Amino acid sequence: MGIFKRKPKETSVDFNALPEHVAIILDGNGRWAKRRGMPRTAGHAVGSENFRKVATYCNDIGIKYLTVYAFSTENWKRPDEEVGTIMSLLEKYIIEAIEEVRKKNLKLRFWGSREGLSDRIKALMERAEEESDNMTGMQVNVCLNYGARNEITNAVRRLVHDVAEGKISAESISEDDIDSRLYSAGTPAPDLLIRPGGEMRLSNFLLWQLAYSEMYFTDKLWPEFDENELNRAIAAFQKRNRRFGGV
Ligand code: IPE
Ligand code: IPE
Ligand code: MG
Repeated sequence: MGIFKRKPKETSVDFNALPEHVAIILDGNGRWAKRRGMPRTAGHAVGSENFRKVATYCNDIGIKYLTVYAFSTENWKRPDEEVGTIMSLLEKYIIEAIEEVRKKNLKLRFWGSREGLSDRIKALMERAEEESDNMTGMQVNVCLNYGARNEITNAVRRLVHDVAEGKISAESISEDDIDSRLYSAGTPAPDLLIRPGGEMRLSNFLLWQLAYSEMYFTDKLWPEFDENELNRAIAAFQKRNRRFGGV
């Protein structure tokens, strides 16, 4: 033992008090690759492999909902080659996920606009959602072609339609009426948002849902964000005092 007192480990997690819903912005693939003298696309390949690893860990420890930002409505601005690589990695991932979901009892959902996606990827997304419909384990929400402003705009459009058709009156519109028209309908809001990659912004991710989420930012790039890093984020979350506006 000696004269040194043992400090509690930074990563000590109380596995009985886990956040129910963890959201992650998968950022830093490009820089990770560049630092190694590789093309950005190589970073996306390693990043998608890392997603598999971290998602498996979340499922193993008992996280109920995992939501990841994989491709934003703004990411179409990138060079065609990069967008093409990301799309084919997503396709590959979904094909494998169709098998995985049954084995691991996972529920898979895609949040985002289907507009602009290829017919092939849309068909795969539909199949994966169908296959996992009856699963009762962790729910994984993959935000693909997702933008929060787009999500809220669509919800408003649907509400206005419902008002025009007399299904609901303008005066009676509640927060729940908006909530139930978002991609996230039926899912509790994230407890913890994690953004690796060093940027301290939301980049149009879950603007409505993150209203009271705890935020955790780290310089670690997504491809190097492993189980230990997740533990560190959860441990930090567990030290927070959530007040939701109260005292
Ligand atoms: C995140 O990594 C993946 C996507 C946005 C699709 P980036 O590609 O944004 O990596 P950096 O931020 O340029 O390092
Ligand atoms: C956010 O990362 C989107 C995803 C991770 C899918 P970006 O790399 O696109 O965000 P900005 O451009 O740095 O804000
Ligand atoms: Mg980025």
